[in-house]
Amino acid sequence: MKVLGILGSPRAGGNSDILLEQALAGAEDAGGEIEKIVLSKKKISGCLNCEKCNDTGVCAIKDDMLEIHKKILEADIVIHSVPVYFWAMTSQMKAYLDRWCAFFDAGWRLHKAYRPKMKGKRIGLITVCGDPNVSTADPIVHSFKSTCQFSGLTLLDVVQASAAAKGEIANNEVAKKKAYDLGRKSVTK
Ligand SMILES: Cc1cc2nc3c(=O)[nH]c(=O)nc-3n(C[C@H](O)[C@H](O)[C@H](O)COP(=O)(O)O)c2cc1C
Repeated sequence: MKVLGILGSPRAGGNSDILLEQALAGAEDAGGEIEKIVLSKKKISGCLNCEKCNDTGVCAIKDDMLEIHKKILEADIVIHSVPVYFWAMTSQMKAYLDRWCAFFDAGWRLHKAYRPKMKGKRIGLITVCGDPNVSTADPIVHSFKSTCQFSGLTLLDVVQASAAAKGEIANNEVAKKKAYDLGRKSVTK
């Protein structure tokens, strides 16, 4: 099983990075072949709604997202980890998600060629917010849940955690275990 980890925080070694590492460790322990992509280190522009991908299935913007599209298609499982910025996902994660547009045709159906690879693909989500109330991240969960329902993907258990200072989540054994279990179960499920 190929497991792709997508980090939406620009803070290396930060809270969502720590939890993503936990999830990937769980996936690897379960026999998964893991890879991590740090979005802030990639050049990913916003979707232009130019509609060129509607026919071709290939994004017209020639940046790092083209390679990531291929990696998403090849992966069995894609686990995202992202902090809350102003009650929403980070700009890095939003630009990445908007570029999923390339998977769809003009009628917002998955391109025929991609259907076998996308249908049932397992999607993981981890959120971190500074607010002690983890439901502050619910808008991000809603976005991923709707995207998965719309696209016929399988959203796995969502891990929502709270931490503010860089690396603070390392002390939260419960959140780390939940993230590890998410990764492990994503492969064994
Ligand atoms: C620009 C910015 C906006 C933020 N907005 C929120 C917010 O709306 N709600 C919240 O609970 N935390 C907010 N935070 C706090 C982060 O979610 C928190 O520090 C988180 O642990 C960062 O995760 P990271 O270490 O993975 O980058 C914000 C942080 C930044 C830098």
